[in-house]
Amino acid sequence: MSFHPQTWFITGAARGIGAHTVQAALAAGHNVVATARNRHSITTTHDRLLALDLDVTVEAQAHAAVQAAVARFGRIDVLLNNAGYGQLGLFEESTAADAQAQFDTNVFGLFHVTRAVLPVMRQQRAGRVLNISSIAGMRGRTGTSLYSASKFAVEGFSEALAQEVAAFGTFVTIVQPGAFRTDFLDGQSMRTGSRPLADYAAQSAQVTEGFGARNHQQPGDPARLAAALLQLAAHPTPPLRFAAGNDAVEIVGAKIEALRAELEAWRALSVTTDGVF
Ligand SMILES: NC(=O)c1ccc[n+]([C@@H]2O[C@H](COP(=O)([O-])OP(=O)(O)OC[C@H]3O[C@@H](n4cnc5c(N)ncnc54)[C@H](OP(=O)(O)O)[C@@H]3O)[C@@H](O)[C@H]2O)c1
Repeated sequence: MSFHPQTWFITGAARGIGAHTVQAALAAGHNVVATARNRHSITTTHDRLLALDLDVTVEAQAHAAVQAAVARFGRIDVLLNNAGYGQLGLFEESTAADAQAQFDTNVFGLFHVTRAVLPVMRQQRAGRVLNISSIAGMRGRTGTSLYSASKFAVEGFSEALAQEVAAFGTFVTIVQPGAFRTDFLDGQSMRTGSRPLADYAAQSAQVTEGFGARNHQQPGDPARLAAALLQLAAHPTPPLRFAAGNDAVEIVGAKIEALRAELEAWRALSVTTDGVF
């Protein structure tokens, strides 16, 4: 494939997957707009890098960042909606505020940034939107109720959006990382429910220990994920969904089989509900 320099716009770019993608895109020769809640937390400097403040929960900041990006580079070819965190805990131990905050970042924040960037891509009649979901956007498990809800929302949104913007040469790809070695399960990123309940104490302890044991031990390498994202963004026909990592491939495959088996097991009853009007 011949090399075409692109302008990337990345959210949550100071740490983890976002930071690795900044490095990879710069190394490949692309322009990068790296955004973070505090732009000073982006330590990389480069003449093809523009670092901007963007808390994705603040829509006005998204519009201002996009304006600054276009003023500097003239276009945005790739939007990487990466900013997010895991509200990992049991639903009944979470408050309405916990749920609201999770959706404010992972869902409404992603909407804000997408809404700000799409007019640029529509005008260009070209663009790539890479939305970071998760295997939790495919499968719910004990301890992921709110996080999975937010990532399932990202999946449904992205699947529909892909059809709406295809006419403008814009592709949407949902990226489903398995477990990657970032700060994701660390105390500085992950949040747990703020309403402990005695009935859930044992289950909650198990969940917390499970995530704690995996913190910074995850098999996925964020640098390699960044390299894969660059390939997806350069591909002429990118996929709608992309599972990242052996664990993700296994989990998505098992989910497809479980869905198929359940559909067949209940087919006879399912097909009885059409009206005879
Ligand atoms: N690592 C995994 O195993 C894994 C698996 C599946 C999906 N993911 C997804 O991958 C994405 C990146 O996570 P990561 O693994 O790289 O975790 P990370 O190391 O914790 O990085 C998360 C980044 O998101 C940023 N962020 C959080 N809230 C934000 C907000 N309101 N506005 C702007 N930025 C915000 C953080 O910024 P600050 O530096 O300001 O806190 C941080 O840079 C997330 O969407 C996550 O759900 C991760």
